[in-house]
Amino acid sequence: MLTLNMCAGSILPSQNESLERALMEFKARAFDPVTLKADSLVVVVPTKGTPGPVAKALDSACGGAISAILKSGELARNGNCLTLYAPVGLNAGRLVLVGATEAAPTDSQFHKLALRIAGQLTTPGLKSAALCLDDIATPDRDQTWHATQVARAVGESLYIFDRFKSKKDDKKPAPSKLTLHSDSKAGKAINSALSKGLALARGINLARELGDLPPNICTPTYLAERAQELAKSDTRLTAKVLSEKQMQTLGMGSLLSVTAGTETPAQFIILEYKGGTKDSAPVVLVGKGVTFDSGGISLKPGASMDEMKYDMCGAASVLGAITSAIELQLPLNIVGLIPAVENMPSGHATRPGDIVTSLSGQTIEILNTDAEGRLILCDALTYAERYKPRAVVNIATLTGACVVALGHHASGLFSNNDELAEQLLSCGQDSNDRAWRLPLWDEYDQQLKSPFADMANIGGKGAGSITAACFLARFTKNYPWAHLDIAGTAWNSGAQKGATGRPVSLLVEYLCRAVA
Ligand code: BES
Ligand code: MN
Ligand code: ZN
Repeated sequence: MLTLNMCAGSILPSQNESLERALMEFKARAFDPVTLKADSLVVVVPTKGTPGPVAKALDSACGGAISAILKSGELARNGNCLTLYAPVGLNAGRLVLVGATEAAPTDSQFHKLALRIAGQLTTPGLKSAALCLDDIATPDRDQTWHATQVARAVGESLYIFDRFKSKKDDKKPAPSKLTLHSDSKAGKAINSALSKGLALARGINLARELGDLPPNICTPTYLAERAQELAKSDTRLTAKVLSEKQMQTLGMGSLLSVTAGTETPAQFIILEYKGGTKDSAPVVLVGKGVTFDSGGISLKPGASMDEMKYDMCGAASVLGAITSAIELQLPLNIVGLIPAVENMPSGHATRPGDIVTSLSGQTIEILNTDAEGRLILCDALTYAERYKPRAVVNIATLTGACVVALGHHASGLFSNNDELAEQLLSCGQDSNDRAWRLPLWDEYDQQLKSPFADMANIGGKGAGSITAACFLARFTKNYPWAHLDIAGTAWNSGAQKGATGRPVSLLVEYLCRAVA
């Protein structure tokens, strides 16, 4: 029975047509900025120190205009932009200068520049635009890293979510041709770096779209349909969906306790991407897919409850990461597991005090039905064992306490394996998607003791993110495992409300490195 009361068909088309256009045409090329013919030439100019070769060449071609601008101080803040239309002495239709306070910007300064550059490259009305980054250089980041970050920023800037507005926002048109200046020797490496950035953006934007969709549309069934749609796009990807009945037969009593109160059927989504050799152990990604978390009988307060539509952002990040992996054709086996449920109160709902048996056989006393993420994840984590995985990473908007601990800048990272933890931290650092590790000490685990079952589903006062992670750790003893708590990073609240697509870029970086 599929009665999704939505305005369009049951599967809404993907929104990223504009990204498709950009993807075709973001290429590296050797060109002379002075004679280049393009609608726009965007140049990053350090505002301190001696001008770099590109700034010098342009300055003398335009009769000193750039030195004069630098002197004026108008570019003095990192990312400030200034446009010269029909610049005398150049062939470009306009010259856009993007000021960089440092010739060797830090990662965070560069990400800010990348956002500004993306805005300039996607300005309405441009057919072709070219970018010169040559005058900046960082000791620990090479040109390919810069190229990836810029392409990704361009792709991300094309995201729009207006399908429920009667009056559409102006579609942000992407120029049909984007060029990044490079010397011809580096061209090949830069081109694949640009492709990586665009592939990342595609995965990130998919995760954002799924997150932003309202919970009456983005149901467990809808997520399953989108997973199946994704599997159609590549022969190496297959999607399988287990029904509640099948989950019952398997013994997923913990997962099923969460769906007891809702009319919407739960789905257990299994994606298998076979990019690697037949018998190489897969990386398993497990994403929390609570399409709406009301708290259940332990009902949440009303304020901002709408934001609990984002409680499936872990699931969205798994679909996003796999989308990017397909596009990059990673030679690696990846499994995506998505327990998808809605958490609602009703006469059938699970009560505080109920005891359930998980797929692992361990029993759980449910003291708070709002601690539901761990209840669905534990069964998925036990299911993951059958793949004999090389590593399992689960991603979940798991605890409000994680937002208290780390705010919105870093995801919480927990792991039973130091090497895996270090790898993930470094991937986060390198992909502008940072995580910070917290401990899984036994003292915290003890907080989960129950007088009536093997464990309780909450750990009482203090360290809520850690006790939640300790709960998951009880189900992950048989493989290297890490848990990313993305409660603070998966979406923005307030005027800029919207899904961020995190931690897709961290995950994709990890998958890329897992290939090597
Ligand atoms: N989905 C929430 C966590 C959450 C809350 C994420 C707010 C982002 C913002 C999760 O299911 C939950 O409700 N956790 C409880 C656990 C508690 C009952 C032990 C929480 O964080 O309050
Ligand atoms: Mn909850
Ligand atoms: Zn939740």
